[in-house]
Amino acid sequence: MVLVTGSAGFIGQAVCAALLARGERVVGLDNFNDYYDPQLKRDRVDRLASNAHFNQIPGDIADRVAVDALLAHWRPRRIVHLAAQAGVRYSFEHPNAYVRSNLVGFVNLLEAARHDGGVEHFVYASSSSVYGANPKQPFSTADRVDDPISLYAATKRANELIAQVYALQFGLKLTGLRYFTVYGPWGRPDMAPVKFARALLQDRPIEVYGHGDMQRDFTYIDDIVAGTLAALDDLHHFGDVPHRLYNLGNSHPEALRHFIDVLARVAGRTPILQMRPMQPGMCGRRRPTSRRPPATSVGGRPLRSKKGCRRRSSGAADTSAAGDRGVARAMRGNYAFVLTFVPVTCPVELITGEADCADLLASAGTHTRI
Ligand SMILES: NC(=O)c1ccc[n+]([C@@H]2O[C@H](COP(=O)([O-])OP(=O)(O)OC[C@H]3O[C@@H](n4cnc5c(N)ncnc54)[C@H](O)[C@@H]3O)[C@@H](O)[C@H]2O)c1
Repeated sequence: MVLVTGSAGFIGQAVCAALLARGERVVGLDNFNDYYDPQLKRDRVDRLASNAHFNQIPGDIADRVAVDALLAHWRPRRIVHLAAQAGVRYSFEHPNAYVRSNLVGFVNLLEAARHDGGVEHFVYASSSSVYGANPKQPFSTADRVDDPISLYAATKRANELIAQVYALQFGLKLTGLRYFTVYGPWGRPDMAPVKFARALLQDRPIEVYGHGDMQRDFTYIDDIVAGTLAALDDLHHFGDVPHRLYNLGNSHPEALRHFIDVLARVAGRTPILQMRPMQPGMCGRRRPTSRRPPATSVGGRPLRSKKGCRRRSSGAADTSAAGDRGVARAMRGNYAFVLTFVPVTCPVELITGEADCADLLASAGTHTRI
């Protein structure tokens, strides 16, 4: 039995579907909050409802009693914790929502897992936003992440530090996944890819924050799901303290302008762009003047090295060669977005392409509530 929190969310629903497809029993927990249209969340869950191995429980992770009761009843052996208050800009107006879901809820789940005793692995969503304004590329889990620029990022970093304590003190096996901007069908309507897709399909202007040449790591949902399940399945490669962190995203940041061009080409539309200044709390990087060599890996290592408690301070830990352990490639389209997921044990390199943008557009066009 796998417990997936945030099961009605964009990534949660896709993770549940993948777990069910391989025959797992899944219990999903979500409070269907109205950060964005709850009907979209219900529609996502409806796609899973016919599977006899799936149970959806309405509930709030900030409710300690409910979380304890859930674990006592379902006794999950593995947890994929995705429920959170997401969004960067929203955190400036609604800080308490982040404290409640991302801090109180996170600790409630850890507490329930530790006292239950039967949880063999707890995987949780962190975020690339922990890198803040770090200009160094590619990002490494060995980089300093002490300068968050939004409350959202601060709560995600806090999750990583709290997880380290639960691993150290209670031996709970924990894996944190720093997701990089995820896009694809059933995506979040508050995020740029769906906003851009809708604007294109409705011939409305697209608001581009920062500059047209800002870069972002766009990661296709299928690749995020594959990486999440690969991490969940690996119960072995932990250090002395059983907590590890992985970057799960793209090692080739794409210019926003390029992402829009691919979407527009697939949609057969001409984009109308409205340039806007950078917003507070937004992360992004200017496109370098010369093309940097492609990174072979964006690997992660446990926070604690074998020799001691201090985090590594050099990027050398990220040179684990993908080729050493075989590389799985899935090529769709000629060129677009590249994902390199190189955990310590099961490197996967996936190249996704224009077909993904077509999926995104189809979803944005047909799902009326997006
Ligand atoms: N989508 C991305 O690009 C991205 C990037 C980095 C990190 N993440 C992280 O991945 C996870 C999933 O993100 P997503 O894009 O699917 O977001 P989402 O908002 O679509 O899904 C989160 C789900 O959690 C639920 N939820 C929130 N607070 C809850 C609470 N207190 N109790 C129960 N349920 C609650 C929401 O109703 C929602 O269905 C989040 O932790 C997010 O911070 C996402």
